[in-house]
Amino acid sequence: MRIPGSSFTGEPRSRPLPGAGSAARVLAVTSGKGGVGKTNLAVNLALALADLGQRVIVVDADLGLANVEVLLGISPPRTLYDCLYRDRDIREVLLPAPGGIQIIAGGAGFLDMAFLDRERWQKLLDALPQLDNLADFVLLDTGAGLSKNVLFFLAAAGEVVVVVTPEPTSLTDGYSLIKVLDRLQAHREVLLVVNRAGSEREAAATARRLEAVAGKFLRLPLTYLGYIPDDGEVARAVKEQRPFYLANPQSRPSRSVAGLARRLLGQEAGDLPEKGVRGFVARLARLLGR
Ligand SMILES: Nc1ncnc2c1ncn2[C@@H]1O[C@H](COP(=O)(O)OP(=O)(O)OP(=O)(O)O)[C@@H](O)[C@H]1O
Ligand SMILES: [Mg+2]
Repeated sequence: MRIPGSSFTGEPRSRPLPGAGSAARVLAVTSGKGGVGKTNLAVNLALALADLGQRVIVVDADLGLANVEVLLGISPPRTLYDCLYRDRDIREVLLPAPGGIQIIAGGAGFLDMAFLDRERWQKLLDALPQLDNLADFVLLDTGAGLSKNVLFFLAAAGEVVVVVTPEPTSLTDGYSLIKVLDRLQAHREVLLVVNRAGSEREAAATARRLEAVAGKFLRLPLTYLGYIPDDGEVARAVKEQRPFYLANPQSRPSRSVAGLARRLLGQEAGDLPEKGVRGFVARLARLLGR
């Protein structure tokens, strides 16, 4: 499928060459409907992966909504904008965050990829691949929905995690998003997380419902990664600007996220031909016809 206004037509799938050097797994966390828990998942999953010895960078790729830093209680002195427009080294815009993770705040320069000029693109292409040596995982917290910007990130990311809640509106919007991902033919599967589930059983039923429709109409397989319970700890942590995984590692949502992290580590990375952040920016550049 073509993303309107881009030169992207889908890539042939092939096995990566062995020994291609170190490459981070680039995971986009996204959803059809807004407010379903993407940012909470991205931040707390990052912390749980860090607990498992992984080097993790969370990138705030949401359009202007600086959610990641707010959840972590950080006010970033520098953003990606400083790297692109003020000649700061990418290492200077990597901000240390609680729990041993790092974040990159979006800033104005990251808002709309389509508006970056040639010089900025070159900077992005030169700077971002350095992250491959600095991280095992790069988690992109995207905006919700089907805007062109979000679709670029999703098409370029090695792996995509779709967040839904058991609410019918979230499921319908989640399915619409998965349908678009199916047409992109950029991934071999979509990872699914059910957030705000009343019980494990409700979460599994929600996942099955989506899998049933997707299995009938789409080629792209859904892999159910797991769920996070609906729990007052989450909202409390948001208010206190301290991620729930750090505030209370033994709480139910924290244990769920730890399970998601373990499952993710046990999974093979996506099989796009160009690995890591290097592959991500190369695909982005092609998508935008740069
Ligand atoms: N598992 C949960 N249990 C209880 N409340 C939750 C849970 N997950 C999320 N919430 C509530 O939903 C709110 C929105 O979560 P979050 O900001 O992570 O969503 P989002 O998908 O990133 O939103 P947006 O689309 O605006 O970026 C949180 O502030 C919290 O109050
Ligand atoms: Mg968010």
